[in-house]
Amino acid sequence: MKKKVFITGASSGIGEYLAYAYAEKEYIVGLAARREDRLASVLSKCKTLGGDGKSYPLDVLEAEALKAAIDDFISLPGDVDTIYANAGVGGSDKLSSGDSKAMNRVLKVNILGVTNTVLPFIPYLKSQNKGKIAVVSSVASFRGLAYHSAYSGSKAAVRNFCQGWDGALHKYNISVSAICPGFITSEMTDEVDVHQPFKLDTDVAVKKIIRAVERRKKVFIFPWQMRFLMVPVMKHAPDWIIRKFNM
Ligand SMILES: NC(=O)c1ccc[n+]([C@@H]2O[C@H](COP(=O)([O-])OP(=O)(O)OC[C@H]3O[C@@H](n4cnc5c(N)ncnc54)[C@H](OP(=O)(O)O)[C@@H]3O)[C@@H](O)[C@H]2O)c1
Repeated sequence: MKKKVFITGASSGIGEYLAYAYAEKEYIVGLAARREDRLASVLSKCKTLGGDGKSYPLDVLEAEALKAAIDDFISLPGDVDTIYANAGVGGSDKLSSGDSKAMNRVLKVNILGVTNTVLPFIPYLKSQNKGKIAVVSSVASFRGLAYHSAYSGSKAAVRNFCQGWDGALHKYNISVSAICPGFITSEMTDEVDVHQPFKLDTDVAVKKIIRAVERRKKVFIFPWQMRFLMVPVMKHAPDWIIRKFNM
C-alpha cells in the first residue's frame, strides 16, 4: 500500500523541499498553497523523483475549500501517513499603525490555517488508528518578539495546540509534533534583512524534520545551537538583554 503525505505551504521553502524528500521515498504527495504555477512545478519535479500526487491551489484560510481538498486527498489510494501544517507568513505587527490588520493577518494564517488543515484529517486518522501530524512552529515561539509579536505569538499558540492534540490523540496511535526551526533558507528568510545565525539549507533542514516526525518527537527545536543556546536565552534572559539584541 502506497503512503501519502499532505503538505500545506508546498509552493516554496520548507514545504517544497518536504515534498521532494517524500517523493524520493515514493510517497503520494498532496500539495497545497495559493500559487498554482509554483505548485504545478513542484508536483512535476516530485514525479521525476519517484513520487506521485496532486496539487491543491488554495488559501488555507478557506476552510471549506481546504476540507474539500483533504477529502479528495483521503480518497486517493493509499494510507495517509503524515500531515504537515506548514503554511505560514511573517510580517511586522505595525504596532503604531492604529490598525490591527497586519497582526490579524499573521494570526489568522498561522493559527487558523493550522486548525483548518489538521482538524479535517482527525476523524480519518482515528478510523485508520495511525498517523503523524507535524505543525511548523518556530524558535520564535519561545519569547514574544518586539515588532513581530503576532508571529511569535501565533507560533507559540500552535506549539501549545500540538501538546494538547498529542495528549488527546496518543491513544489512537496518532502523534503530533511541533517543529521549531531556527533560520532556514526560504523565501521568508530571503526577505528579512537581519543576521541569521546557524542558518540551514532547506534540503538539510527537511531531512532533520522528517527524522524527528518519524521518531514522533513532541517538540523538535533545531539546529542544535538553537536548542541549547538560543532557546534557553530566549526563555530566561531578562528583558534588558533581549532589548539589546532587538529579538
Ligand atoms: N524559514 C525559516 O527560517 C523558518 C523558521 C521557523 C519557522 N518557519 C515556518 O516554516 C513555514 C514555512 O515557511 P518557509 O520558511 O518555507 O517560507 P516560504 O518559502 O515563504 O513558504 C511559505 C509557504 O506558505 C504558503 N502560504 C502562505 N500563506 C498561505 C495561505 N494563506 N494559504 C496557503 N498557503 C500559504 C506559501 O505559498 P503561497 O504563497 O503560494 O500561498 C509558501 O508555500 C512557515 O510556517 C514559517 O513560519 C520558517
